Amino acid sequence: MSNIKIAQKVQNLQSSAIRELLKHSKMEGVISLGGGIPNPDLFDHEGLQIAMDKVLTHAWKDAFQYGLSEGDPGLRQLICQLLLKRTIICDVDDVIVTSGSQQSLDIVARALINPGDIVVVEKPTYLAALQIFQLAEAEFVSVGTDADGMIVDELEQLVEKTCIKAVYIVPTFGNPGGVTLSDERRKRLVELSRRYNFVIIEDDPYGEINFTNETFKPLRAYAKEMDNTENVIYTSTFSKILTPGARVGWVIVPDWLKKAVVNLKQATDLHTSALSQSLTYHYLLTGRLGNQIEIIRASYKQKCQILSEQLEKELGDHLTFHKPKGGMFLWARFKYEMNTTKWLSKTLSQGVVYVPGEFFYCNQPDCSTLRMSYVTVSDAHLKEAVLRLKHSLNALPS
Ligand SMILES: Cc1ncc(COP(=O)(O)O)c(C=O)c1O
Repeated sequence: MSNIKIAQKVQNLQSSAIRELLKHSKMEGVISLGGGIPNPDLFDHEGLQIAMDKVLTHAWKDAFQYGLSEGDPGLRQLICQLLLKRTIICDVDDVIVTSGSQQSLDIVARALINPGDIVVVEKPTYLAALQIFQLAEAEFVSVGTDADGMIVDELEQLVEKTCIKAVYIVPTFGNPGGVTLSDERRKRLVELSRRYNFVIIEDDPYGEINFTNETFKPLRAYAKEMDNTENVIYTSTFSKILTPGARVGWVIVPDWLKKAVVNLKQATDLHTSALSQSLTYHYLLTGRLGNQIEIIRASYKQKCQILSEQLEKELGDHLTFHKPKGGMFLWARFKYEMNTTKWLSKTLSQGVVYVPGEFFYCNQPDCSTLRMSYVTVSDAHLKEAVLRLKHSLNALPS
C-alpha cells in the first residue's frame, strides 16, 4: 500500500448510498423502488436513431471535432426555445451547455463558494448536491419543507440573522421530497435573495414531468419579471426527458458569473461532447420532444397513482406522504419512530428495496423517512412491492 494520501477534502466524501443500493436492486427477484433513473423503455429509440443518422451523414465533421466551451450555438438557440415554453425568456448568450446538471452544479459551486460560505438546502435535499457543496467546503444550514416546498418563513428568520451565500433548491417535483414550491413562496424567495444578497441555485430536472394542469413557473422566470436575474442561477437537463446517457444539460448564470463559469467549464473538460450535443440538436429538430414528454408524463403519472393508492390501502396506518404533482419520487414518513436504514435488511429479505431517507439530510436526519421511485417498476410490481413492504413490517418483532 502506498503512503501517499488522497486529498483531505476527498477523504470525507461519502460514497453515494443510492449507488451502493443499486447493487441490491440488481439481485434476482428483488423489486427496486430505490432507483433514481428514468425508465429506459421510454427513451425515444426511433427518434434518437433518426437524429444519430443525421449526425453521422450530415454533421459528422463538427460532431467529431472540438467545439466551443459555451456549447454549440445551434443547440443553445433550441434550448432558448424550449425554455420559452417554461416561461423563461433568455438569449443564446445566457445559455451554457454542460455535461448534465450535475456538472452545472459542480462548476457553479466552484465558481461561487469559498470554504466556510453558508449554503442553505432543503430538508431533505438532493444527495449529490450535498457532495458537491461539501467538496467546495461549504457550511450547510437546512430549512424545513412541507407540502408547499421549502418553508420560506424559516429561511427569512435565518437570513435576518445570518449571512448566507446561496440557497440550493429543487423547487418543482423535488428529489427526494417530491414536493413543489408554491407560487407565493417562489416570489418571496426571489425577493429575499435580493434583499439579503444571496444567490438562488435553481435545479430543475423534473419540471416538465408534470402530472397536473397547473403550471409551475421557474424561479428564473419570476426573477426576470421582478428584474432580479442577478440573483438566480438556473440549471436543467435532457437527462429526464430525453436520455441521461448523452450527458447534456445547461446552466443560465447572471452576467457577473458568466466568465468564471465558462473558464471553469473550459478547465474541466474543454466542452461537452460535441457528438452528444449534435445528437441532442438533431433530435430537437425532429420536433418529437413534446410528444415524448407527454408519453413520459402519462406513464409516470399512472405509476405514481398506483403506488400512492396501494400505499394508502396497505400501509395507510403506518406511513404518511404528500402525493407528488410530478417527477419521479414519492417521499414517505412513518407515523411513528422507525429506522428505515435498519428496516432495509428486512425488506430486502422480502424482496423489495427503497432508499432510506437519512441520506438526504445535511444534518439531523429524520431516520423514519424513505424515498421510493416508481418510474422503472411495472404496474404489477408496484403493487407487489407495497405488499412486500407490509410483510416486512409484520415480520418485525413487536
Ligand atoms: C435534483 C437533481 N439534480 C441534478 C441531477 C443530475 O442530472 P444530470 O443527469 O443532468 O447530471 C439529478 C439526477 O438525478 C437530480 O435528481
